[in-house]
Amino acid sequence: QQKINVGLCGFGTVGSGVVQILENHKEEIVHQVGCPIEVKRILVNDMNKKREGNIPSSLLTDQVDELVQDPEIDVIVEVMGGIEGTYKVLEKAIQNKKHIVTANKDMMAVYGSPLLELANENQCDVRYEASVAGGIPIIRSLTDGLASDRINKIMGIVNGTTNYILTKMIEEDRTFEDVLKEAQDLGYAEADPSSDVDGLDAARKVSLLSTLAFSMPVELDDVDVRGIRGISFDDLSYAEQLGYTVKLLGIAARNEGKIEMSVQPTLVPHSHPLASIKDEYNAVYVYGDAVGETMFYGPGAGQLPTATAVVSDLMDVVKNIRLGVTGKSSVNPQFEKSLKSSNE
Ligand code: NAP
Ligand code: HSE
Repeated sequence: QQKINVGLCGFGTVGSGVVQILENHKEEIVHQVGCPIEVKRILVNDMNKKREGNIPSSLLTDQVDELVQDPEIDVIVEVMGGIEGTYKVLEKAIQNKKHIVTANKDMMAVYGSPLLELANENQCDVRYEASVAGGIPIIRSLTDGLASDRINKIMGIVNGTTNYILTKMIEEDRTFEDVLKEAQDLGYAEADPSSDVDGLDAARKVSLLSTLAFSMPVELDDVDVRGIRGISFDDLSYAEQLGYTVKLLGIAARNEGKIEMSVQPTLVPHSHPLASIKDEYNAVYVYGDAVGETMFYGPGAGQLPTATAVVSDLMDVVKNIRLGVTGKSSVNPQFEKSLKSSNE
């Protein structure tokens, strides 16, 4: 194939980062995948919005069918957010034989299994690395690098917005509302930031990581969730005086054949590496039978780190298209196993 055409759903923080990386790293990308990758159409909500950068307005549309039904488009990159409506868009895209790259943990935590199953039936690839921990390749590490191990526990900071808020409140003596507003301006927060501050975003990520790590179907509702709303400067300050830093920790662990999952504000001793993870950075510990303890650290939110994960997924799909092996690796074997066991 001479070039791969992409339909980009969403041109906000992450979508504009995807276009930037495809442009700025064009040479390296072509060198690695063997052909150019071109954004053919961009789906947005508001056609009248003023856009930064010099994106030709002819690329923009608010008609989803112009992407999912275009026979020249090979891959749909979904970075618009949303759950039910977005699942329907991706379902239709797969039925039209489009491969999918998404950063959408909200949708994947609810519809991941049926989406992957549909993709499998249609020989399509689905990639979602950016949906957990932004620029940290944690999904790939679980499904590739640590695939041979038996994972017993995952623990870490998987929400950038809340870590940013907790860091700035204590270090700069600022209010929760003031720092949340800054996190929104920096593009870290979700469209509805209550899913960040009330812990739901982290819970969705914990459930996605658990499904991959433990090869078991888990339900989002099984995550015991508490967010950081209501935590005051005084709470953080007393904790510091006692030798602790408050962090919103996501934990998933095996316990007597079951998986226990939680998201809670936690007192982390100053001596523990998680206490020193600041701002929008994330860090995830993975404990395996054979490998022991591993820690993955990096920017968990933000335009270019997240877009890096999206474009790397896209490159992976493009390589598969060129090798003629799409769909063969589209359903992670662990997911497939969990799908089968949940149907039994
Ligand atoms: P954003 O800045 O709010 O951008 C959303 C984009 O999608 C906008 O261009 C918007 O159009 C478009 N859009 C939204 N709903 C639409 C609809 N129904 N139809 C057509 N277009 C629609 O969001 P973002 O921060 O880039 O996040 C996008 C996705 O990436 C979300 O799933 C988020 O959870 C995930 N994510 C974000 C980050 C991050 O750091 N921001 C990190 C990891 C994952 P308009 O421009 O016309 O409004
Ligand atoms: N709102 C999310 C966060 C974006 O702050 O972690 C990255 O998934």
